[in-house]
Amino acid sequence: FFDRIDAAPADPILGLNEAFKKDTRANKTNLGVGVYQNNEGKTVILDCVKEAEKILLEREETKSYLPITGLPEFGRMARELIFGKDSEFVDGGKAISCHCPGGTGALRIGADFIHQQNVASTIWISDPTWANHYQIATSAGLKFERYPYYDRANHNLAFDRMIETLSQAKEGDVVLLHACCHNPTGIDPTHEQWEIIAKFLAEKKLLPFIDFAYQGFGHGIEEDAYGVRTIAKYNPEFLIASSFSKNFGLYSERSGVLTVVSADVETAVKVMSQVKIAVRTAISNPPAHGEKIVTTVLSDPTLRAKWEDELKSMRERIAKMRVLLSHKLKDAGAGDFDFITEQNGMFSFSGLDKDQIEALKRDFGIYAVASGRICVAGINTNNIDDIVKAITAVVKK
Ligand code: LMR
Repeated sequence: FFDRIDAAPADPILGLNEAFKKDTRANKTNLGVGVYQNNEGKTVILDCVKEAEKILLEREETKSYLPITGLPEFGRMARELIFGKDSEFVDGGKAISCHCPGGTGALRIGADFIHQQNVASTIWISDPTWANHYQIATSAGLKFERYPYYDRANHNLAFDRMIETLSQAKEGDVVLLHACCHNPTGIDPTHEQWEIIAKFLAEKKLLPFIDFAYQGFGHGIEEDAYGVRTIAKYNPEFLIASSFSKNFGLYSERSGVLTVVSADVETAVKVMSQVKIAVRTAISNPPAHGEKIVTTVLSDPTLRAKWEDELKSMRERIAKMRVLLSHKLKDAGAGDFDFITEQNGMFSFSGLDKDQIEALKRDFGIYAVASGRICVAGINTNNIDDIVKAITAVVKK
């Protein structure tokens, strides 16, 4: 049966973890996957999460199945973070949320719903984007088209080309947007550009699907929601895949949320009944632990304040590393990397090419994504000088 199966290439991001583990060099550095590491290079459990887990250990009474769409209060709390606590979308009934396994699960369930219900057949995806977006779209049965996003020469958003290309989309096509901390470029639209994008999508009757995986890693919890909330101002219907993997450090707990906003409450109820079918056939019902941690933290004012502090310190440490990295690269004669300080979130789109990234791995044990994406959250005051030396060597070659 299986002798005709070809080996698949390694995943461009998670495959790096496997290669990194096998590397026996003592001073190897993982700047590949988007996982936060502290200044000691450790991905620790947040204090607020540990405390919530202690509470759960005492109070949790059952491991029985959750409802297909997860606990309603979990979805409600996700919507509060996405839209703001006074938004009509928190309780009004037009927005309904469904717990999915991670942001990936939310993207996939959303794409399955779109395909199964013939909502659309084409999804427009930024170029570049997170590599998994293409695979998720195609495995769900959607065709994808690319729209330009990054202006390599100026290290900023190719806004005019983006809008020009999206003008070719047909009414009803889906447009996938990154809400903040664009993966992999770290370049986000300005407030003015969000306004234009949101109005443009509404006028062209395109369906926004927003990937919101990094809330709190750009400028703050509220600030990072600007794009989504602007889309919500002008577009009656859209989808959001949000995630607690990064901002709660709950990577392995698979705590994502698909929120679908419909034009009216009656439609929203029908939509969610179909989303339920998509969930039931894909995963039956969601995992509980991460969702219970999030609801425990967000419903307790002390734990919530602790979470906000911990998130802030992750965000601020990354921002410091961006500044330090660009200064040190300049001092080392590697060139002008000031643009790194303008990028948001965990990643820096370094401008290094495939061969330079390969040389970093081969000659220095530094793992980064072939596109040139470097996870700044993996840089610390102990490894930065080695990283700077290595980058300088590869750019000067
Ligand atoms: C990343 O882009 O590194 C993260 O989103 C992790 C992943 O699943 O690829």
